[in-house]
Amino acid sequence: MLKIDKLTVYADNKEILKDFSLEIKDGETHVLMGTNGAGKSTICRAILKDPNYTVTAGEINYNDHNLKDLTTTEISRLGMMMISQSPIAIEGVTNAEMLRMALSEKTGEHIDIFKFSKQAREICEKLSIPESFLHRDINSGMSGGERKKNELLHIWMLKPSFLILDEVDSGLDVDALKLVANSIKEYQEETNCSILLITHNPKLLEILKPTYIHILADKKIVKTGDASLASEIEKYGFKEFLDENDIERN
Ligand SMILES: Nc1ncnc2c1ncn2[C@@H]1O[C@H](COP(=O)(O)OP(=O)(O)OP(=O)(O)O)[C@@H](O)[C@H]1O
Ligand SMILES: [Mg+2]
Repeated sequence: MLKIDKLTVYADNKEILKDFSLEIKDGETHVLMGTNGAGKSTICRAILKDPNYTVTAGEINYNDHNLKDLTTTEISRLGMMMISQSPIAIEGVTNAEMLRMALSEKTGEHIDIFKFSKQAREICEKLSIPESFLHRDINSGMSGGERKKNELLHIWMLKPSFLILDEVDSGLDVDALKLVANSIKEYQEETNCSILLITHNPKLLEILKPTYIHILADKKIVKTGDASLASEIEKYGFKEFLDENDIERN
């Protein structure tokens, strides 16, 4: 379980989040919605200890580990993985090389090249990804959509227990979005992983069926609801919610 307790986060000497609390249990899918610049990506990056973000108060615990004491590598060893709005390209390292090394690092065992290749090929087929992706540099020269599919390959190979998906739908065409969403759903059903999802995309919400939807405003979560909250936002926008909250607070 992930438990974020009264977190304050700074970026570039500016307070972005304050008193931010959130609890995500195993197998749950939580969606974070909010206006541009509300701080959605900031919380994702703070969880993974991006050095551009400084936590000045509160704490984050994941399965009894206080993340304060851990490095990004150690946090990913615990099973956390993020797919960001724009996955970066890494030239000079192929997907296959990275995945084999990451698997060996994760399991502490030598990864047999034949078993690895067989598994990687099967996953490519399942995801309708050309096998040639395996031998290409990570995300290098790939379109936005191809990068997202490539990240799916990483999920299925590395088997994270906690997925952070920051606007995974951006840059995907209708078919690719369905493929990515259904694949993540299937992965969750198979592994009972937890998901923190940043999206406003109705199709993605329909497929991933979130447990809770949270509204991020004023540097923290100001409202939590079920899937119907997304339709309200679609209809009325965020302003209505902020006004409503202001009224509640007074
Ligand atoms: N590394 C950084 N340096 C300086 N300011 C930052 C940094 N990261 C985020 N910010 C600022 O923090 C605020 C929140 O940014 P963040 O990227 O978390 O928003 P977001 O909710 O993900 O927005 P979007 O919907 O546009 O993706 C913004 O005002 C942004 O300019
Ligand atoms: Mg963002």
